[in-house]
Amino acid sequence: MNTQATALGIDIGGSGIKGAIVDLEKGVLLSERHRIPTPKPATPEAVASVFKQLVDHFNWKGNIGAGFPAIIQNGVAKTATNVDDGWIDTDAAKLFSEICGQKVVVLNDADAAGLAEYKFGLGGENKGVTLLLTIGTGIGSALFIDKHLVPNTEFGHVFFKKKIAELSVSDRARKEQELSYEKWGKRFNKYLLHMERLLSPNLIVLGGGCSKKFSQYSHCFTTNATVQPAKLLNEAGIIGAAYYANQT
Ligand code: BGC
Repeated sequence: MNTQATALGIDIGGSGIKGAIVDLEKGVLLSERHRIPTPKPATPEAVASVFKQLVDHFNWKGNIGAGFPAIIQNGVAKTATNVDDGWIDTDAAKLFSEICGQKVVVLNDADAAGLAEYKFGLGGENKGVTLLLTIGTGIGSALFIDKHLVPNTEFGHVFFKKKIAELSVSDRARKEQELSYEKWGKRFNKYLLHMERLLSPNLIVLGGGCSKKFSQYSHCFTTNATVQPAKLLNEAGIIGAAYYANQT
């Protein structure tokens, strides 16, 4: 079923690994999204085996792109925050390509979401600095200057209130600390003000699971930059990974 305008996108997260076939002209899912929980521990072998299950589920032959929650340089993972440490220096692109018997390209998961949002959602029209943050198990970031992505920015790891920001402002932190959206929103606003001071974006886009609940906390935001939920919501990671596969 593959034509040049479709690809399989896979979004590897700290709690779930999700995939779908993507229409790259419209930037929409062509299939149902299929999700398999991230194995614990999320070692390279265990994640690769789930990756293959997803590719087999779609019986996919064609371009495949994967977003992975780490710094990714030339397909190699350089960090491992919400996955097993065994990923550090693992060539993720090679591992996934070998297990599937076809070429897989890999990029940071938030960069994937950012690319999708830029191409098919918000941001494409924005001149200047756009900051996209994904709110999930961790905080992912994608920074655009006009239409150019600065990859692997990792702004979830800036120090904020004496610790790594994502430990207090991610969706996982909200759930673990049983914070209401009101309380979490006020805390997240402080993080946004901190990021605004560092980067002066004129548009901030929020993606990840929390983007669906935007209306419950958006009144907490006091940044000068406009803050908007990602148009593609939680599907941005899958769509961006597929888009990247057809660009490389
Ligand atoms: C990782 C990032 C990732 C983000 C969202 C962070 O813990 O360091 O690479 O983009 O989580 O998954």
